[in-house]
Parts: sequence; structure tokens; C-alpha cells
Amino acid sequence: MILTVTLNAALDITHHLHRMRPHGSNRVRAVAERAGGKGVNVARILHALGHPTVVTGLAGGLTGRAVRAELASAGLADRMLPIAGESRRTVAVVEESVGDTTILLEPGPVVSAEEWARFLGHVDTLLPDATAVVLSGSLPRGLPEDAYAHLLRLAHTRGVPAVLDADGAALSTALSAGPALVKPNADELTAATGLSDPVAAARALHAAGAEAVVASLGADGLLAVTAQGAWRARSPERLAGNPTGAGDAAVAALTLGLVTGEPWPDRLAEAVALSAAAVAAPLAGDFDPDVHRALRSLVEVRPFRPSPPFATEESVPCP
Ligand SMILES: Nc1ncnc2c1ncn2[C@@H]1O[C@H](COP(=O)(O)OP(=O)(O)OP(=O)(O)O)[C@@H](O)[C@H]1O
Ligand SMILES: [Mg+2]
Repeated sequence: MILTVTLNAALDITHHLHRMRPHGSNRVRAVAERAGGKGVNVARILHALGHPTVVTGLAGGLTGRAVRAELASAGLADRMLPIAGESRRTVAVVEESVGDTTILLEPGPVVSAEEWARFLGHVDTLLPDATAVVLSGSLPRGLPEDAYAHLLRLAHTRGVPAVLDADGAALSTALSAGPALVKPNADELTAATGLSDPVAAARALHAAGAEAVVASLGADGLLAVTAQGAWRARSPERLAGNPTGAGDAAVAALTLGLVTGEPWPDRLAEAVALSAAAVAAPLAGDFDPDVHRALRSLVEVRPFRPSPPFATEESVPCP
């Protein structure tokens, strides 16, 4: 199974209304609630693809209970560790008349040192059954900024490859622990390195210790820098829809590729098709299977040599 870790799990609440009237009362037409956080989104996608998955992380209070109840009703195996603090909610207000969304993000609980130590022990009991572990998303308050480095070292000791999707200090302090793969988006890449050129920034993260760097560049697709080579991959078309969670779909596909050991061009083609299919689905953690199937054979993957100013590109049709 693939283990996904969501340290700041959330209950994602979506309010649908016609139009928001600021400074007044607004009647909500429909409400939807589901468990969220980036690791949960990755697990939903793996589960929908038929791959065994276990969700872990920290969940507390009434909101934590609601998160776990929703995981159960979605059929996701839940091994969250209970904590004393109240898990966070995120509130999205969708204004249907203007097609606009306003999002409120609660900070989430403060985790104690004792709870964090207990969580490390808990993950250690789950790792022996895992073929890969995915570490995704922001850290709740109270955790050390190198929390992911601790988890990466644990996974390394157990011989389990780890995929990291984080930003800021949580990302930069984890690189020296040697993640098998990191997947920053364009902003995270620049923030982590101070470099605006994505190729130079991806190379810098690779040199800092990530075995592979796959940067996601929105509709421009993926850029991979690995020990085996470097590639760019992109969807033949830009899709309209909800890009939130597209990165999580890319992480799901790249983790599966890591587990199966497929050649890099195939992994990247699958990640581009699946993440584009996630844009076409309205909720983060879902994808449109028809778009996924239709795009899979159309994604173009090009190898390149990431050594400016002599970079060369050659087009390779992808299976
Ligand atoms: N408009 C789009 N059309 C087609 N594919 C897209 C589009 N937007 C994103 N993608 C695909 O999704 C991938 C991930 O997108 P993006 O770089 O926005 O991730 P992200 O910012 O990490 O997302 P999140 O963190 O919300 O999951 C891209 O590399 C690309 O393959
Ligand atoms: Mg992301």
C-alpha cells in the first residue's frame, strides 16, 4: 500500500450561494463537507485508480471526528492519530452567478511535542507495509520546521521511498534527508531557491539532495530533473476548471510510477494526463476519467539537457 501523511488534515466545507453580499446576511443554497488536506487528496486519487492506500496524519476534536467519518464513508483506510487540539476547517464560498470562489483557511491545532513523538512512533508501525510514503502539505503549529526531515529519515531507515510536496522551510530543511522525489509548483520552486528560472531552480533542489525534482508549472505541465535525465511534459490542451488539487493528482501518478518503476517518460505522461483530468473535475481529490483516458496517449514528453546555455531539445512521442 501507499501511505499518505496529512499533518494538518482539514474538513473542507463548501457553501454554494447565488451571489455574496458583503457586510450582510447571505442565504446558502447548498453545503458540502469532506475530508481534505493534500495527502487526503492524493489518497482519494490513488484509491479511485484502484491502488491500496492508507491515510495517516493528525486529527483532533469534533472536526477531526468529522474528517474521520468522511474518510470512512469515502472508503479510505484511516490510521489518523488523535490529538487534543481541534482540526481545522477550510470554508469555500462559491458564488454561482459570477463563477467566483472565496476561501477561508483556519490555522488548525497546536500539536504538542509529546503528540509529535507519538506520531513518529505511529508512522514507524505503518511503514513496514508501505511501498511508498507521500508527505504532503503544510505543518500545523507546534511541529518543528524540519518535521518532514524526521519522517524522511524514518522512511529511509525502513527502506521506503518518500515523495514530498511541501514548501518554504518544510521543503528546504527536508532536502538533505534525500527524498526520492519532490514536487514543487512554480512559486514554491522560486521561493525555495530564489531562482526565477525553473530549470536552474529544479537543478538546485536536485543538487541539495532530492533524488528527483518534478516541478509543476500549471498549464505548462511538468519539468523533471533526475539522475536518469531531464524531461518536459505537457498536456496538448489547456483545460478550464478547478486547478486546486491538480498538483495532488500529479503527486499520485508520480508516486505510482515510483512504485512500479516505469520509465520516466511514461510516469510524466501519466502525471500530466491525470493532473489535467483533475482540473476537469470540480473537487480537489477527484479527476475526470474520460479526460484522463483521452489525454494519456496525447501527452508530449521531451528530453532535454539542463545545462544552459547549450540546452538542446529533441521531441519524443510518448506511448
Ligand atoms: N489549465 C490546465 N490545463 C491542463 N493541465 C493543467 C492545468 N493546470 C494544471 N495542469 C496540470 O496540473 C499539474 C499541476 O498543476 P499546478 O502546477 O497548478 O500544481 P499545484 O500548484 O501544486 O496544485 P495544488 O497544490 O493545488 O494541487 C500541472 O503540472 C499540469 O500538468
Ligand atoms: Mg501543490
